Amino acid sequence: MSHFIVFAGKGGTGKSTLAALTVRYLREKNLMPVLAVDADPNFCLPELLEISSFETLAEIRDTALQRKPDGMSLDEWLELEINRIVEESEGFDLLVMGRPEGSGCYCAVNNVLKRILQDISEKYKYIVVDNEAGMEHISRGILNKINFLFIIGTPAKSSIQAALRINELIKELNIVPKKKIFIINQIMNRIEEQEEFHKEFKKIVYLNFDENIKELSEKGKSIFSLQDDSSIIKNFYSLLEEEID
Ligand SMILES: Nc1ncnc2c1ncn2[C@@H]1O[C@H](COP(=O)(O)OP(=O)(O)O)[C@@H](O)[C@H]1O
Ligand SMILES: [Mg+2]
Repeated sequence: MSHFIVFAGKGGTGKSTLAALTVRYLREKNLMPVLAVDADPNFCLPELLEISSFETLAEIRDTALQRKPDGMSLDEWLELEINRIVEESEGFDLLVMGRPEGSGCYCAVNNVLKRILQDISEKYKYIVVDNEAGMEHISRGILNKINFLFIIGTPAKSSIQAALRINELIKELNIVPKKKIFIINQIMNRIEEQEEFHKEFKKIVYLNFDENIKELSEKGKSIFSLQDDSSIIKNFYSLLEEEID
């Protein structure tokens, strides 16, 4: 059975960083095969995972009906195309979703896509999804299974509110993750325990601002070059060890 590990939260909170770190963790622990899915139109995951060339699902979705060869069904064509654009790297594969739909009607394509993505995901033990802040792929039902949901915020009030809105959306969509964890990331000064959220979240985790991550991001380096003794690795890995099975 495959497990979907999904990261959600306002932009800039650390979704891509923590999703990439999860891929690194699964690879190091030999918990494979892993599929990383970048569901944010501003894709950051390829760079963090050291992948420089890729095609997006949006590109093939938008041209599927025009480019499909005669005599081939939309199903067959999209399946071939998706398999073609999944980038294979050492210890994980990567699928980049790309920008959301334009104004055309993509219902037919979307329904097929949904099914094919489900089929493809069965090939992997873990699917790590770096979601976009608007949760488009989730509200459209393209990604409808979540086993482990990490909602990321920072100590900023607006970011905590965004996290709570995402939590409400997930509930409205009747998605019930096995575990739902609230991470407050990039903490610089001591903050008060957010006790009031405990009824919504199994766990609330506090991650400090890590200078090594800042440096890595400024230099455009991948998550694999982050030093093993970084505080974020120690703290986030121990959370994954406890929660991911
Ligand atoms: N714990 C942390 N310590 C220091 N910088 C962080 C931390 N988490 C994320 N960042 C930085 O914050 C910025 C936004 O992180 P990112 O993962 O791209 O967020 P998102 O994907 O939610 O938009 C990046 O520059 C990243 O390096
Ligand atoms: Mg991101």
